[in-house]
Amino acid sequence: MADQLIIFDTTLRDGEQSPGASMTKDEKLRIARQLERLKVDVIEAGFAASSNGDFEAVQLIANAIRESTICSLSRANDRDISRAAEALKGAERARIHTFIATSPLHMEKKLRMTPEQVHEQAKQAVRFARNLCGDIEFSPEDGYRSDMDFLCRVLETVIAEGATTINVPDTVGYAVPELYGQFIKTLRERVPNSDKAIWSVHCHNDLGMAVANSLAGVKLGGARQVECTINGLGERAGNCSLEEIVMAVKTRKDYFKLELNIDPKHIVAASRMVSQTTGFVVQPNKAVVGANAFAHASGIHQDGVLKARDTYEIMRAEDVGWSANKIVLGKLSGRNAFKQRLQELGVSLESEADVNSAFARFKELADRKSDIFDEDILALVSDESVSH
Ligand code: KIV
Ligand code: ZN
Repeated sequence: MADQLIIFDTTLRDGEQSPGASMTKDEKLRIARQLERLKVDVIEAGFAASSNGDFEAVQLIANAIRESTICSLSRANDRDISRAAEALKGAERARIHTFIATSPLHMEKKLRMTPEQVHEQAKQAVRFARNLCGDIEFSPEDGYRSDMDFLCRVLETVIAEGATTINVPDTVGYAVPELYGQFIKTLRERVPNSDKAIWSVHCHNDLGMAVANSLAGVKLGGARQVECTINGLGERAGNCSLEEIVMAVKTRKDYFKLELNIDPKHIVAASRMVSQTTGFVVQPNKAVVGANAFAHASGIHQDGVLKARDTYEIMRAEDVGWSANKIVLGKLSGRNAFKQRLQELGVSLESEADVNSAFARFKELADRKSDIFDEDILALVSDESVSH
């Protein structure tokens, strides 16, 4: 049987860190319910110690969601970890996700701590968390820019203290796929008892490679959890996008050979909900969830798709929650697509000559007008049509 890839959604935590994307607790609960429908394995509901509002949101979600594991982020200190545990009390399955930065830059300039102090704090934090919860994730923040020897020592320690998931963030989106994949592989080979934990990837999109890096972490590195957000929402250029990861792994199952729990037909609804809630518009050419992701405008493509959808479609629009693919009529469209739309509109023209003359008028109009609506087509053929 193929391995399982765990989908960890952090729309409500890292996604919310996107400037201007803050959500109320009721909005977060609505999104959490949609994530549960999508069958996301782990929902990171927030950062309980960061504010009373976030604490309440994590608590609300922990009490309401039954199918997904609910997680709260916490810094590596007793107060944060206790707040996370408190907020997660009502959860069917709870996870505490604790983190501390391990890169030389972050330790020296941000934390003003020595590597030994960071090592000790990571150890104490996981030890403390493990007494409160059986499911502990540890993240070395800015892990990808950390010294390999030091990182191996920290990760060895936190696994020995009981961390069950080790997440390796590319916090600033600096990685490239091959190197990130190799980085995860080296960690898994060098850290003693690495097989006692599930390895996870967490990639930011500063260079537009969050999805590619995450996939490399899975395929080359052997990670079995991906952290991602709906629409790739997240700080700066965002996080790895859930819809792209899921559909890449599903569509290229021949290559990834992994199982997912996700039910993709809820993807488009999740995307719309997050977009409407945050006001972050989804670009039309965004993979999977953009308005044009399954739209065909050129005559050659339209003709191909009308004959056999696989000619220009590697996924089905309906499988991710669109009602259908879209043939967009415009100046590049061919006669076949035009004829098909007439049929869909219930218009039947008497002869092929009538179709040809209507098509000529349609092309003339399309040269002048970029958006051709069904009403335009009906107006074009109103004199010749036999029935509507
Ligand atoms: O990007 C990052 O490093 C994070 C951690 C807190 C996991 O979001
Ligand atoms: Zn992050």
